Amino acid sequence: MPDAILVAVAWPYANGPFHVGHIAGAYLPADVFARYQRLRGNRTLMVSGSDCHGTPITIAAEREGISPQDVIRRYHPTFLKTFQALGISFDLFTQTYTDNHYRVTTDMFLRLLENGYLYKDTMVGSYSETLGRFLPDRFVEGTCPNCGYPRARGDQCDSCGHLHDPQDLIAPRSVLDGAPVTFRETEHFFLDLAKLEPPLRAWIESVDRSYWRANTLLFTQNWLREGLRGRAITRDLEWGVPVPVDDPTFKDKRIYVWFDAVIGYFSASIEWAERIGAPDAWKEWWVCLPDGSAPARSYYFIGKDNIPFHTIIWPAMLIGYGNLALPYDVPANEFLNLEGDKMSTSRNWALWAPEIEDRYQPDAIRYYLIANGPETRDSNWSWADFVQRVNSELVATWGNLANRVLSVTHRNFGVVPQPGALTDADRQLIAATQQTFERVTALLDGVKLRAALNEAMALAQAANQYLSEQEPWKLVKSDQERAATVLFVALRTVDTLKMLFCPFLPFSSQRLHELLGYTGTIAPQPQVEETQAPDGSPRLILTGDYAASAGAWGISVLAPGQPIQAPTPLFQKLDEAIVTEELARLHAKVRS
Ligand code: MF3
Ligand code: ZN
Repeated sequence: MPDAILVAVAWPYANGPFHVGHIAGAYLPADVFARYQRLRGNRTLMVSGSDCHGTPITIAAEREGISPQDVIRRYHPTFLKTFQALGISFDLFTQTYTDNHYRVTTDMFLRLLENGYLYKDTMVGSYSETLGRFLPDRFVEGTCPNCGYPRARGDQCDSCGHLHDPQDLIAPRSVLDGAPVTFRETEHFFLDLAKLEPPLRAWIESVDRSYWRANTLLFTQNWLREGLRGRAITRDLEWGVPVPVDDPTFKDKRIYVWFDAVIGYFSASIEWAERIGAPDAWKEWWVCLPDGSAPARSYYFIGKDNIPFHTIIWPAMLIGYGNLALPYDVPANEFLNLEGDKMSTSRNWALWAPEIEDRYQPDAIRYYLIANGPETRDSNWSWADFVQRVNSELVATWGNLANRVLSVTHRNFGVVPQPGALTDADRQLIAATQQTFERVTALLDGVKLRAALNEAMALAQAANQYLSEQEPWKLVKSDQERAATVLFVALRTVDTLKMLFCPFLPFSSQRLHELLGYTGTIAPQPQVEETQAPDGSPRLILTGDYAASAGAWGISVLAPGQPIQAPTPLFQKLDEAIVTEELARLHAKVRS
């Protein structure tokens, strides 16, 4: 019985294009994992979309002198373009500004209200006397009450992860003009986290969570240790999902962006089901079985700054709603630095995806971002390192292996040759291939992508070594049968490596699949489709049909006689000059 797997990916604010940190932190790991799960034959649903609400959007709108809808129309399509260029295979990448999402969010709010998990209370809001209006949490900064970090945001400390209210900050000030903020009473709805704490704790403690990443666990435990209290889920704002109550006080308020964004995982699954014409299909991932267990394993791919929202608040909302599947794993990633410095969009110290997605092979970018991924600690994009790893690992190790084996075979046999008796060296490579296949499978199951990729590359290296020792290009002249055997063994390893690399390097694996004489698709790609926004304007989504790769995962059973195509190199060698060019480009646009 295949498993159902939900691959839920953080919703990016549609207020600017992606930089490589976003790709390395969430989208690419999620795609690798989803591709692997599909190859395994599991029913996989990968969803996300543009986060359209909140101050990140309204600030961008103010800055650019356009409406929030215009901001979404400007940046949402850049996400889709990056996903297509890099092969990020969403079943649905939508947005939170849709009728469906508004309906599902409203339903979630009302259900939580009905179930007694929302309450009204007055709170003090941060108020700017200089601007004469309430300030969103993001516009307030001060010293963290937990760790003393001097530039903690109003809602969360980026240094220790502590979540708080702006008035908990020491010396709170407005980020707009640096003036001290004052606090005024305002009425809001609150999520009753104190009431949800016991079931939340019971859920977290119901199994041994040591399979969670250390950082995910630590953030979550720190949070629980402090005890939970209610959190306001509405705001004094004009842009967002309306508060669905008959109360004039709430006419000028909206649902808080974080409350609606996490609901996106759920609403996007529903939208996907409707699109494929099976309106109940989302239930396979969301509705608990009669015994109360989850029908699917759901994996949330996010950056470390989003951990509590996914291990505490979203699960609390799901528990409050009732009968919906809770996260199975939250493989949060650390951050990717750029040339040794923290990326900063305000200084424009960032490598933007649209700047590189058309200039380099997608598999080269994908390779570097996973092999060097910020999986358990911050990592670093360096152009020198990029060029070096692409050239020595992708081109000289894996690409060269595939190319050598295919071209010698093509030139001398034209087809997969019939092997003769095996030697110890042959058996060793066959055994190593088997072991690597098992190890990579286990690592991918545990979302240890970086280690899985390194294992595969190590096998490519061992296979190159085998070829250099066996020298089939010489054997073809002296001992045809031995040449046939060596090439057969090498081809099978190359074919297995093609599969192991497929989730990571889908473009080249698909090409190699065809060079090896197969027809069919092991690495389906996403496509862009047009639909409608609530205001009737055209709206683009990313979707795809990935059924073709279902169940292909396995060790090679390549059969003698299969025709082999004449290869051309899978990967382009990069010119060293790229390093200076790219560094110059980066430094030219940075603002001090
Ligand atoms: N838009 C948020 C960010 O970029 C992430 C939202 S993730 C979700 O930090 F869970 F809310 F969807
Ligand atoms: Zn702190």
